[in-house]
Amino acid sequence: MRVDVISIFPEYFAPLDVSLIGKARERGILDVHLHQLRDWAHDVHRTVDDTPYGGGPGMVMKPDPWGEAIDAVLDADPTTRPRIIVPTPSGVPFTQRLAMEYAAEPWLLFTPARYEGIDSRVMAEYGSRTRVDEVSVGDYVLAGGEVAVLVMVEAVGRLLPGVLGNARSAVDDSFAPGAMENLLEGPVYTKPPEWRGHEVPEVLLSGHHGRIARWRRDEALRRTAKNRGELLAALDPESLDKHDRKLLAELDLPADSASGDG
Ligand code: ADE
Repeated sequence: MRVDVISIFPEYFAPLDVSLIGKARERGILDVHLHQLRDWAHDVHRTVDDTPYGGGPGMVMKPDPWGEAIDAVLDADPTTRPRIIVPTPSGVPFTQRLAMEYAAEPWLLFTPARYEGIDSRVMAEYGSRTRVDEVSVGDYVLAGGEVAVLVMVEAVGRLLPGVLGNARSAVDDSFAPGAMENLLEGPVYTKPPEWRGHEVPEVLLSGHHGRIARWRRDEALRRTAKNRGELLAALDPESLDKHDRKLLAELDLPADSASGDG
């Protein structure tokens, strides 16, 4: 997969050199191209922002440098078009589903903004030629979109074939589609079997795969109920078996959470 990032802080992306993503790049699975937006700002100060029309606080990123920068990236391969991802707190939520969708794309172009965001005409211009997604990584405001790009590249990169050592790890993720979709992963343990008086749950040492799977599902349901009531409430009742319903009935859930009886 090719990934381009245009930013006024390309040095922000040094973490993409290390760990899983760094290795994916070394192995040629991920081809990352970083660009300095100011290379397409032509005044002496290489200005990329200006005051907002209509007034208000902060500055808005000018369309000209963005237009020239994006054109230059698009020209790198005129036979195809990248999917353009604009990080913004006003965007659609970034989810595991979206990460999987992006992992199936051959080419992504990220355009992280600083200040109050990018002049909206840039998204309109490219939205008529390729897919442009405005995406938020959470309901909070970052100082800029760079960290959001790191989040998305890591979430997408680990899904690319050959990146994770154990292909099952991505299948078992919290939020991954399947039987455990929208359930959080439960607690995990490793050796030793006892540490500072805390014991590993006996069932995990039993070697009984059926009991272990059931225990993991119980823990996933408990944790989801405790930490993410809204996910529990949104569960498809059809996806709950008799044991799930019994467990949920025993938990002291608020009225708007899944009761398990449809
Ligand atoms: N830029 C600033 N805040 C952001 C957020 N929450 N998600 C994506 N981009 C952002």
